[in-house]
Amino acid sequence: MTAQLLTCARAVLPDDTVLANACVALAGDRIEWVGPGDALPARYANWPRQDLAGDLLTPALIDCHTHLVHGGHRAREFEQRLQGASYADIAQAGGGILGTVNATRAASVDALVEAALPRLDALMAEGVAVVEIKSGYGLDRDTELNMLRAATRLAEHRPVQVVRTFLGAHAIPPEYAGRADDYLDEVCLPTLNAAHDEGLVDMVDGFCEHIAFSVAQIERLFDRAQSLGLPIKLHAEQLSALGGASMAALRGARSVDHLEYLDPAQAQVLARQGTVAVLLPGAFYTLRETRKPPIAALREAGVDMAISTDCNPGSSPLSSLLLTMNMACTLFGLTPAEALAGVTRHAARALGLDAERGAIAPGQHADLLRWSVQSPAELSYRLGFNPLIERIQGTPA
Ligand code: NIG
Ligand code: FE
Repeated sequence: MTAQLLTCARAVLPDDTVLANACVALAGDRIEWVGPGDALPARYANWPRQDLAGDLLTPALIDCHTHLVHGGHRAREFEQRLQGASYADIAQAGGGILGTVNATRAASVDALVEAALPRLDALMAEGVAVVEIKSGYGLDRDTELNMLRAATRLAEHRPVQVVRTFLGAHAIPPEYAGRADDYLDEVCLPTLNAAHDEGLVDMVDGFCEHIAFSVAQIERLFDRAQSLGLPIKLHAEQLSALGGASMAALRGARSVDHLEYLDPAQAQVLARQGTVAVLLPGAFYTLRETRKPPIAALREAGVDMAISTDCNPGSSPLSSLLLTMNMACTLFGLTPAEALAGVTRHAARALGLDAERGAIAPGQHADLLRWSVQSPAELSYRLGFNPLIERIQGTPA
């Protein structure tokens, strides 16, 4: 097995330029050098070489916001929405997220893993090598822990890096209806501690919305997360403008996600704080939302925009990151270059992985994708077509 490889192709570099006749030197599981083939240092002259015949090389893709692990499905809710019911109506009638809570509570860890694998395989077939997976359909101690255990196990079944996010503050379970603060004190916060003790949590997220948790309640969750040294992020401004995004950014959140109702003036806060805006066009599309995130303001303020499937059984039953890129361009007006950055380096930053993921640069993981396309824009342009030729990975030295 070779631990050193030169890949020679056109490579998309961190600043979105495409380097023709590029060479990338992989040493062990890291990129050691990248540059024009004619500037290849002599020390690489005898390394095994793979000629990629001018195909396009990108970093492996990152899906930075998913609810991949869950029981059951919500096709019935899809039919209800087609007949005019709104996402909030269905949630308030005890369906929506709570429907998936029932199915998830009834599932074993093995069953959760089995159900998630086909969705993970669909993502990986398009080159996803890092996937963030949230809990949040248990809303009781044992099921929240089981979801995180299932997410952990997925990385034992497939060559994928899983980032596990505790989302105990996703909805208020029926047994705590009308008592969100009691749910936080009695279930959510103690479960976060238990999950952290078991080494199951990489990040902490919440759903800040009028049908879920208030800004003040999310602040209590973040106090606990930060006292445990865990990074935070937030579902914010998806259905209404509660101000969760700026609260989270001011507390140092890595990302704030959705943002359809973000006040454009708040883009400056995200920019100043270095918080990534994660855009989820699959949820916008599925819920037939008409209000778009304030892309122009985010762009102008210099906020890094990531995009993600939000793969979940309700608001975004989407397991194609390439289609998500197309939606980000067509529905939100991102450029194809922004879409590619959104599933590579900006997604890496949303997960705190930018030092080693999301770019073809020395020191990064040797985890590359070879595409049969003429230009990077083609990755966003087609619908329902996968031009991935192969994933090229280094092997640990
Ligand atoms: O990201 N917004 C809240 N959570 C998910 C939806 C989960 C569900 O509907 O099951 C989201 O859209
Ligand atoms: Fe989500």
